[in-house]
Amino acid sequence: MDQFIVSGGRPLRGRVRVSGSKNAALPILISTLLTDVPCVIDNVPDLRDIHTTLRLIEQLGKRVEWIGSTVRVRVARPLGTAAPYDLVKQMRASILVAGPLLARRRRARVALPGGCAIGLRPIDIHLAGFRRMGVGVSFSHGDVVLRTRRLRPADIRLRFPSVGATENLMMAAAGIPGTTVIRNAAREPEIVDLARFLESLGACVIGAGGAVVRVDGAARLGGARHSVIADRIETGTLLIACLAAGGNIRVEGAGGEHLRAVLDALARAGAKVREEDGGIRITAAGRPRPVSIRTRPYPGFPTDLQAPWMAAMSVGRGRSRIREEIFEKRFLHAAELGRMGAWIRTDGEIADLEGVPRLHGAPVMASDIRAGAALLVAAVAARGRSEIHRVYHIDRGYERVEVKLRALGVRIRRVNPEKSSARAQLPS
Ligand code: UD1
Repeated sequence: MDQFIVSGGRPLRGRVRVSGSKNAALPILISTLLTDVPCVIDNVPDLRDIHTTLRLIEQLGKRVEWIGSTVRVRVARPLGTAAPYDLVKQMRASILVAGPLLARRRRARVALPGGCAIGLRPIDIHLAGFRRMGVGVSFSHGDVVLRTRRLRPADIRLRFPSVGATENLMMAAAGIPGTTVIRNAAREPEIVDLARFLESLGACVIGAGGAVVRVDGAARLGGARHSVIADRIETGTLLIACLAAGGNIRVEGAGGEHLRAVLDALARAGAKVREEDGGIRITAAGRPRPVSIRTRPYPGFPTDLQAPWMAAMSVGRGRSRIREEIFEKRFLHAAELGRMGAWIRTDGEIADLEGVPRLHGAPVMASDIRAGAALLVAAVAARGRSEIHRVYHIDRGYERVEVKLRALGVRIRRVNPEKSSARAQLPS
C-alpha cells in the first residue's frame, strides 16, 4: 500500500490548478443512465471514486471512454437494474443509481453500503422520497430492493437536507413526465451542477441551490456535453494547508462563491485571501489566530473541510472549538493529530483544541478521505518527517495531491514499501 513521506515545516509558494469536483462528477456520471443518447463529461478528476462510478455504470450497460479529463458515455447493452456489493462497498454514493434506474426500469436492487447495520438510517431519506413517488421498498440478502408499477411525480419534504437524497430524487424525477417538488432540499453547489446537466439532457429544473427544487421530467431525455465545476473541497484544503504552514499560493481555476464560509474563517484566522481573476490567492504568516467553527449544510462551513481545519487550528495561537453537526464519529483524525503533538479533546460532536507552537512529524494513518487530508495539512506544517499510511483513502478524493503539493514547494514522495522490498528481493 502506498504511503506519503513528507518533510514539512516550510512555507508554501507557487500556484496550482484545482481539479473538477468529485462530488459533482459522481451524480452527473450516474445520471447518464437516464438517457440512451451519448454524453460527454469534461473536467472529470482522475480519482478512485470516479473509477468505481465508471465501473458501476459499465456494469449497468454503458460503455465508457476516458481520455484526459473527458469521459464519453454511450450505450453498450440494455440497462441493468442491480448495483453489486463489490462496487457499493467501495463507495457509498453507489445508492445514487437507484433514481435513474427507477425512472427507466421501475426497479433497482442496490447492495446496502457497509455500516448500515446500525439501522437503515443512512439512506432513510432517499427511501422516504422514493416511497412518496410510489416505490415499494424491501430488503433481501443485504440489498435494498426498490420496485414500482409506475414511478410518479410527487411533492416531497426531506427531514434533513441530505445531498445524496436530493440528487437521487432529482434524477428519478428528471426521467419521468410531470412535476416533482423537493422541499428542504440540499443547496450545495454540486446540486446546482447536477441540475444544469439534467437541464441539458432535456429536463426542466427550477430552484436548485435553494430549499425548494422543482423538476419537470420527461420519459425520453437526450444527450449532452457538460463541464464539471471546480472542486471547492480540494480548493479549501489547499488554502487551509497554506494557513497552517504559512506562505503565499494561488489556486487556479477556483472561485470564492462556493467557499464563502471557509474564506471568511481563513480571514478571521489572519490569512489574506484575495479572489483574483480565475483563481484565489492566499498569504499567511505565523501561527493562525484560533477560529471556532461548526459544520452546517451549505452555505455553512462544509463538514468535508472540518478535518483539515482541525489540523490548522492545532497550531493556532490559543483555544478553539469545532462542532461537527453533519456526521457522527467524524473525529477519527483527532487521535492521529495527537501523535503529531496536537492537543485535542473530543466529546461527542465537539472537539476542543489548545493550539501548540509546532507539530512534529510522525508516522500516522488515514482513516477516511478527509481525515487523510487533515494529516496531509498537518504533515506539511509540521517540523520533520511524517509518514502517512493508507494513502488510498486520500486518493479517493484528491487528484495527484503529491504532484500539486510539490508544485507548492512541499517535499513529499509517494512510496510503496511492499513493492520496493519485493524489488529488493529480485535477483540482480
Ligand atoms: C455528500 C458528500 C460528502 C459530504 C456530505 C455532506 C458526495 C458523494 N458526498 O454525502 O462528501 O460530506 O454530502 O455535505 O456528494 N443521512 C441520513 N439519512 C439519509 C441520508 C443522509 O440520516 O437518507 C444523514 C447522514 O448519515 C449524514 C447527514 O445525513 O449524517 C448528511 O448526509 P448527506 O447530506 O446525505 O451526505 P452524502 O450525500 O452521503
